[in-house]
Amino acid sequence: MLTHAPKRRYLARFDAKRVPHMFADVLVIGAGIAGVRAALEIDPRLRVIVVSKDRIELSNSAWAQGGIAGVLDPEDAISNHADDTMVAGAGMCDKAVVDAVVEAAPDLIRELMEYGAQFDKVDGRIALTREGGHSHRRIAHALGDATGKEVMRALIDSVRGEAMGREPSTLDIWEETFTIDLLTHDDTCRGAIVWNPDHGKTFIWAKQAILCTGGAGRLYRETTNPDIATADGHAIAFRAGAELRDMEMMQFHPTVLYIAGSSRHLISEAVRGEGAYLVDATGDRFMEDYDERLELAPRDIVSRAITKQMNKTRQPCVYLDLRHLPPTLVNERFPHIKQVCREFGLDLPQDLIPVRPGAHYMIGGVTIDSDGRTTLPGLWAAGEVTSSGLHGANRLASNSLLEGLFHGR
Ligand code: SIN
Repeated sequence: MLTHAPKRRYLARFDAKRVPHMFADVLVIGAGIAGVRAALEIDPRLRVIVVSKDRIELSNSAWAQGGIAGVLDPEDAISNHADDTMVAGAGMCDKAVVDAVVEAAPDLIRELMEYGAQFDKVDGRIALTREGGHSHRRIAHALGDATGKEVMRALIDSVRGEAMGREPSTLDIWEETFTIDLLTHDDTCRGAIVWNPDHGKTFIWAKQAILCTGGAGRLYRETTNPDIATADGHAIAFRAGAELRDMEMMQFHPTVLYIAGSSRHLISEAVRGEGAYLVDATGDRFMEDYDERLELAPRDIVSRAITKQMNKTRQPCVYLDLRHLPPTLVNERFPHIKQVCREFGLDLPQDLIPVRPGAHYMIGGVTIDSDGRTTLPGLWAAGEVTSSGLHGANRLASNSLLEGLFHGR
């Protein structure tokens, strides 16, 4: 647990008399799923500023492939989703948080549809897939394997509509705006100092701030995360004196495309959910030696098994094998992954796809209570930047967009 801030309070020097001052009721820092969902829920009479480090379209949420977990099948049960989350979390989840989040999941997914998100359907009903650690098919997906892109399109359209439609205007979105530090006074968060090319350094004074800055994957050489995932939110919260916990817990996704010298690309767990095997360089389906749930064991177990197998075979990767699956299913379900593979000369249904684990999701983060309150008065947080107790030691697949929606709302 990290509780003490360093002696030098602010990262950058500033002269308060020379910096423009802006005022808001609520400052939302970050515009992935948690930040945008939060912005949409705030009373429209309050003045809100949302800041996004890059263009609002670029977030880890928008890169999500697999989907959003929620019990939508009458054969499934909320208690199954809760149990799977607890098992994947290796006994370290907070049961009350797990129960609250999984219970809200179906409603949060329906709400996304009201915002305009189009999920993939079969026979008029939301199509559900499986991923590691899930005992049932319960992952709603969109555009085949680009769920985050579609969900964020719908939420961004909604928040931009709100920003443009309000009279008087009470919602501003500042893109390409980097948050340098949280402002504190009397051990309370009072907003943030930000920088962007139009305003330079600016103080945004706010009665409440909500931290939704996402993850930290880019601290690692091999990661599925976009360039922006650099732990800025963790750092500014730490410097402001908020408690962080479990920061040693980084989740490694088992299957990241391995092409020596190229950047890494996620190959969704849904590929194994639809039946792909993991084989080593000798063709051995090695998960049989590690876990009876085979390729659909929770991802910490699969990542460790792959690493052990790579060491055993002295190879830099293992392979996803989809050759036994109908090519039409593969092509229709995974158009984005197919395209990425094609760029490297690989045919997804026909070729063995080289993969190995990569840093994927920051499990630790800023401690929040069940309402999203951090230990620093005036500062709230939601999404990957937090440690809420939902994930324990290892997040269940597709519980991340869900968590962002839950605490964002
Ligand atoms: C994936 O599609 O494998 C990633 C889903 C997740 O991280 O929950």
